[in-house]
Amino acid sequence: MKIDGKSYKTIWFENNLVKIIDQTKLPHQFVIKDLKTVKDSINAIKTMEVRGAPLIGATAAYGLVLSIIENNDLSFLKKSSEELIASRPTAINLKWAVDRMMKKLKGINEKDILKIALDEAKAIKDEDEGFCKNIGLNGLKIIEEISNKKKDTVNILTHCNAGWLATIDWGTATSPIYHAHQKGIKVHVWVDETRPRNQGANLTSYELNEEGISNTVITDNAGGILMQRGQVDICIVGTDRTLSNGDVCNKIGTYLKALSAKDNNVPFYVALPSSTIDWSIKDHKQIPIEERNSEELSHVEGIDENNQIKKVRIYPQKSKSLNLAFDVTPAKLVTGLITEKGICEASEKGLKGLFK
Ligand code: MRU
Repeated sequence: MKIDGKSYKTIWFENNLVKIIDQTKLPHQFVIKDLKTVKDSINAIKTMEVRGAPLIGATAAYGLVLSIIENNDLSFLKKSSEELIASRPTAINLKWAVDRMMKKLKGINEKDILKIALDEAKAIKDEDEGFCKNIGLNGLKIIEEISNKKKDTVNILTHCNAGWLATIDWGTATSPIYHAHQKGIKVHVWVDETRPRNQGANLTSYELNEEGISNTVITDNAGGILMQRGQVDICIVGTDRTLSNGDVCNKIGTYLKALSAKDNNVPFYVALPSSTIDWSIKDHKQIPIEERNSEELSHVEGIDENNQIKKVRIYPQKSKSLNLAFDVTPAKLVTGLITEKGICEASEKGLKGLFK
């Protein structure tokens, strides 16, 4: 998608370097950063210079490429893979991408390993882009249906950033929105601010602005009253891990939106590429929920009137804080899953029907 009228992807490989858009600087500064080593990749994932389930998967895949360039030794590669998987615990794409790379590289000789690693990392990246495009084409049908019925602007609520910045391109939750907009359907997006890191306000609103899509940032607590007032036609969110029973783990606060949507008969859809499905665990209590630094809660960052980026504390130093990054929305609250293969019920039957 575009920034300042120019098309970008979130990650690319050039001259033996991995290039990323540093998302900790957005929306105030647009900075392209070079990742030179596997340590740089691990750090970029941990500090959330790159974030969003599909993008951290692709960054981990390229991290292994950098690891081979740095030190073409099997034990170093193994150590790199373990450190990459541990860099963020909740999104399953990270492990999925690293496992896929390691499987591909098993038994490959020293001479060929770099080329094969590069091809596989590119395949993961290109595949995600294709998946997200198809999620958009599938989700477009739902928005089109609402638009045809309503004959007015379709109001969509989204949480966090499941936009193109969280993937390679298109996004998951935003892809149906971009496709609808490109088709001339009138859409407006309610963007949950998404405390504490404000991915909604900082990233989703920014990318929608750059594509000329009407959007309004709201506090995380505003969705309920907007739904009661009939000002939300549909919710579409992303996911970091979807269980085979249809339970969905996504950014903290998603569950509360789903409860509110249920109470107000607002359809609640989750958009996902199949790489975020965890077929291995059956109970959401087994999902490792990331607990992040309390400074993300106690401080806010923004730009002052002199264009200087500032970070300020917002509550007493001695107050305790708990910063859980994700929650689980039970399948019973999810109207449907929008995947690259089609739309299905949030259930084992639904998912298995699409993904044998
Ligand atoms: O902590 P983040 O910013 O990585 O969390 C991102 C989300 O929760 C997204 O909704 C999810 O990764 C899906 S991205 C297409």
